[in-house]
Amino acid sequence: MIIAIDGPAASGKGTLGKRLAAHYGFHHLDTGLIYRAVARALLEGGHPLDDEVHAEQAARRLEAARFDEGALKSQAMGEAASVVSALPKVRAALVDFQRRFAGRPPGAVLDGRDIGTVICPQADVKIFVIASEQERARRRAAELRAGGNMVDEEAVLADILRRDERDRGRAVAPLRAAADAHLLDTTHLDIDAAVRAAVDIVEAVRAGRGHG
Ligand code: DC
Repeated sequence: MIIAIDGPAASGKGTLGKRLAAHYGFHHLDTGLIYRAVARALLEGGHPLDDEVHAEQAARRLEAARFDEGALKSQAMGEAASVVSALPKVRAALVDFQRRFAGRPPGAVLDGRDIGTVICPQADVKIFVIASEQERARRRAAELRAGGNMVDEEAVLADILRRDERDRGRAVAPLRAAADAHLLDTTHLDIDAAVRAAVDIVEAVRAGRGHG
């Protein structure tokens, strides 16, 4: 069983993916971490973020790597990942790895931007997570503060909006909901309520299939 979760920056899809995977005993892949790791490898190698040749190399080498969330989850690395992820060769280099992960039994939850549209168009369940811009900025700012950072919420909001625009506007695999995705608006939901709503969606799909 494959569950695809997509959505814009700071929509809560990562936490939701992790919790949903734990609920069903499935594997979980936060695909944003892969693009962040490619960006980090480029920066560490002293290459510009639009260097497609080195970016592709970094993407191919990453396959078996373990991702260090602590180092990858910063705002700056998210922004860098958004730039790198628009490069077609980087995306192409990462497709097989994600598809192999999705095929792991007994099931997998993948979250990102193009899981339901490009990586796993045949996913059993697709959820597109949204939340208002203000709420997403509030959550991201709280997360950064909890990590001991000084935070300007206006700047966080501007960063999120810039990233969404880039992720939606790129030519290859832009951020968008698949036609058969279930929309989940978490603006007024805490994480427990969002997980319950997602489980309800998965169960409704399973029940529908059982009757069909
Ligand atoms: O989900 P995140 O914030 O960790 O993602 C960081 C960036 O990586 C995001 O701005 C766009 C890119 N990304 C992508 O293009 N496709 C994915 N499946 C996941 C992330």
